[in-house]
Amino acid sequence: MLILVIGQGAREHAIIQSLTRDPDVNVICAPGNPGIQQLAKTFNVNSNDVSEIVALAKTHNPDLVVIGPEAPLVAGVADELRNAGFVVFGPSKAAAALEGSKAFAKEIMQAARVPTADSKYCQTVPEARAALELFGAPYVVKDDGLAAGKGVVVTDDIDSAVAHAMACIDSRDGGAVVIEEFLDGPEVSLFGVSDGTTIVPLTPAQDFKRVGNNDEGPNTGGMGAYSPLPWAPKDFVPDVTKNVLQPMVDEMNRRGIPFQGLLFAGLAVTSRGVRVIEFNARFGDPETQVVLARLNSSLSELLLAAATGKLSSLPELEWKSESAVTVVMAAEGYPDSPKTGATIYGIAEAEKLGLTVFHAGTKSNESGEILVNGGRVLSVTATGSDLSDARRQIYAGIERIEFDGEHHRSDIAEKAALGQIDLGEHYG
Ligand code: AMP
Ligand code: GLY
Repeated sequence: MLILVIGQGAREHAIIQSLTRDPDVNVICAPGNPGIQQLAKTFNVNSNDVSEIVALAKTHNPDLVVIGPEAPLVAGVADELRNAGFVVFGPSKAAAALEGSKAFAKEIMQAARVPTADSKYCQTVPEARAALELFGAPYVVKDDGLAAGKGVVVTDDIDSAVAHAMACIDSRDGGAVVIEEFLDGPEVSLFGVSDGTTIVPLTPAQDFKRVGNNDEGPNTGGMGAYSPLPWAPKDFVPDVTKNVLQPMVDEMNRRGIPFQGLLFAGLAVTSRGVRVIEFNARFGDPETQVVLARLNSSLSELLLAAATGKLSSLPELEWKSESAVTVVMAAEGYPDSPKTGATIYGIAEAEKLGLTVFHAGTKSNESGEILVNGGRVLSVTATGSDLSDARRQIYAGIERIEFDGEHHRSDIAEKAALGQIDLGEHYG
């Protein structure tokens, strides 16, 4: 089976590593990165350029196309590929609006009776200010459009909240923000693979959104992740499947916009129960690196079954009992203004210690060196008998990798490993 994967991050590197575990799978990738090039032939095609991607598919005639990032989905790459007769894993442009428009996602959640934060959609600064005053501190202000995980500000400072609302509203014609109630409690990322009717949950993971230890500093695309979650409430996955994932798929179906692809629920386990923070229409990064590290079943069979409407006949997924931790190594200045160009040393040494090094923002030069080429540079992953074991391995091995200005969090999965995540009375 030939699979074309669209994308160039650590998420796509992890997806391709999983796909190529199947002996009968060959992968090609556009545009890819130097890590992916070790597993798949890559093509220098812009992943958001719909006609170039369709032309590439027509040249190679893959049996399945897997779309990694949100931007090509929102640009309608899946629609055009399907129109051209290809089998695609990834939602249509209309269905990807669950990620592309926070207001649309809220509307579907309301119709499907999916628990989420109360919110107000605001198109002017005075409206936004009134909504902030209504909900009170901590203030949560979200850009209504796509913002690569960086469009959200959570703050106790009303002036910063208003300033962010103003910046989003003024950023483009039709700019708008969603202001919402603050959700307390730990966050969980749960992915569901959907064929438009049936949705199959994967194993939950936790992401670390802030750039610094102890959740300090600005939000990022994600600085690390781990799975499983030893502290998760009993029956968490079946409950969320029943109360969140399946109702969303059913409501999208009812509206004639079936969701076929990966539905990613960002959840808060609050003192009043589980609430949806947001949906994404694609695999999460870096959560995918730890979720797929634990998948025992065939990823290519799963994605093909989803893309062809056959999930209900797929055997139940099997998961490894090991724990997985991934730590993102970021460039100097990330997330505000990442500096590129530094040479990266020590990847092979870390791999010799048993770590998996997924490439994100990297490129290679003529002499074969690997250079920093983006904000999140590498996502280094370890598995172990439990979270403490995986953490020990990752933090021992990551020291082998160096580049100028490198920074990473040293507390990924720490609280979970130490049993310090407390869910409070609701779950007691
Ligand atoms: P989003 O892009 O909607 O996932 O938001 C990014 C991050 O902002 C989330 O992962 C949370 O850490 C935080 N956040 C978003 N909405 C809320 C909320 N209503 N209450 C508390 N934190 C939130
Ligand atoms: N790690 C969160 C995301 O992929 O949006």
